[in-house]
Amino acid sequence: MDGTFSENDLSRVVAADKAHVWHHLSQHKPYETTDPRIIVEGKGMKVWDQHGKEHLDAVSGGVWTVNVGYGRESIANAVRDQLIKLNYFAGSAGSIPGALFSERLIEKMPGLTRVYFTNSGSEANEKAFKMVRQIAHKRYGGKKNKILFRDRDYHGTTIACLSAGGQDERNAQYGPFAPGFVRVPHCLEYRAADQGAPVDNYGEWAANQIEEVILREGPDTIGALCLEPVTAGGGVIVPPAGYWQRVGDICKKYDILLHIDEVVCGVGRTGTWFGYQHYGIEPDFVTMAKGVASGYAAIACCVTSERVFEMFKSDASDPMDYFRDISTFGGCTAGPAAALENIRIIEDENLLENTTRMGDYMLDQLGAMMDRHRVIGNVRGKGLFLGAELVSDRDSRTPVAEKQVQAVVSDCMAQGVIIGATNRSVPGFNNTLCFSPALIATKDDINHILSAVDGALTRVFG
Ligand SMILES: Cc1ncc(COP(=O)(O)O)c(C=O)c1O
Repeated sequence: MDGTFSENDLSRVVAADKAHVWHHLSQHKPYETTDPRIIVEGKGMKVWDQHGKEHLDAVSGGVWTVNVGYGRESIANAVRDQLIKLNYFAGSAGSIPGALFSERLIEKMPGLTRVYFTNSGSEANEKAFKMVRQIAHKRYGGKKNKILFRDRDYHGTTIACLSAGGQDERNAQYGPFAPGFVRVPHCLEYRAADQGAPVDNYGEWAANQIEEVILREGPDTIGALCLEPVTAGGGVIVPPAGYWQRVGDICKKYDILLHIDEVVCGVGRTGTWFGYQHYGIEPDFVTMAKGVASGYAAIACCVTSERVFEMFKSDASDPMDYFRDISTFGGCTAGPAAALENIRIIEDENLLENTTRMGDYMLDQLGAMMDRHRVIGNVRGKGLFLGAELVSDRDSRTPVAEKQVQAVVSDCMAQGVIIGATNRSVPGFNNTLCFSPALIATKDDINHILSAVDGALTRVFG
């Protein structure tokens, strides 16, 4: 940062924020006596706040979004050029960046063919839910309309997405919810004992729990199964061996469409273009948002197979036959323009390979840290998407208090390192530290993050 502003220069901004901005997921009472943090500038892996204080960002903008890092002039230029040429036209027409980005994206997603543009992860998931419901009406007399979702998964903030939400603290006080969404058990092996699961073959057992729900509800009532490939805010849950194979078989057996929510994992986060590509899954819908344009523009997509697409154009004479959905801001051209450049950067800078290498390194180092800190009960992750679950006792696996987890996050923040933690998510289990540095992270960056966590754990837990 060039140091051209001081705290005083931003006092007006802070006052305006305190007077008028309602921050997401925030209790505002403390801001009556303290100032909110204003993030002023970013470059690479770093951001600076209103005091000019530098932070290393280990969570890509707080919510695993800025995959290619801050300050990318080439994305800004691509967006600027596009906005001057054409900023917007409704999605009933095409656009140059929309068509070219769709082509590039589909190259990365064998088996899928169609991209529906929208502007948030929640909205992308709603599109898939609506398609499932419409397919139920078109093909199954409305009966096959239920959507299965998994305990601990999150699919967004709208009422329908919360209806498919497996995190009870996210949902609490926002009901009543939409009918037709049914929960299946989570697949967190570290917590298998709490589920009464057998010691062997946990992956298959966890998948079989889905089948039990299907049989209980009636397979002819279930339209789709919606899952995160690696659960994010519910505790960075990497699926156990054998899980996905069995899930795929179950979906085929009961003619259930598979909707993979890649809002967090999509576009490189786990070291492949998409999280599901680690597991040989063949989805019918893939939704994505955050990393699609790394936060340089708001863009999200609901991508489908041709089989799904074909179901919406069988009778051109029927005015109700097609997908009668509108997304106003799905027609913004800044999104696909930024997303095209985002893909180019990931390819030209070999960021998938870097993500795998740095992710493996970080996971190893977090594992090694378990020797020094008994409070770390379990570490897990895929690529640069990692979690460390904190427990007060390794045998009983009792979660530490959320307050202590937040104390670790605050200690890191004081050291100038921004890490995350599960919060307002699963009651009693908001005890996992979360790491999702940008895909450009170097070994030095990872060491810097680890050393901050090491110090914080020592100070908070001894
Ligand atoms: C897995 C997952 N799906 C969907 C969403 C919702 O995305 P958005 O906040 O863009 O609506 C999120 C947001 O955190 C998410 O983590």
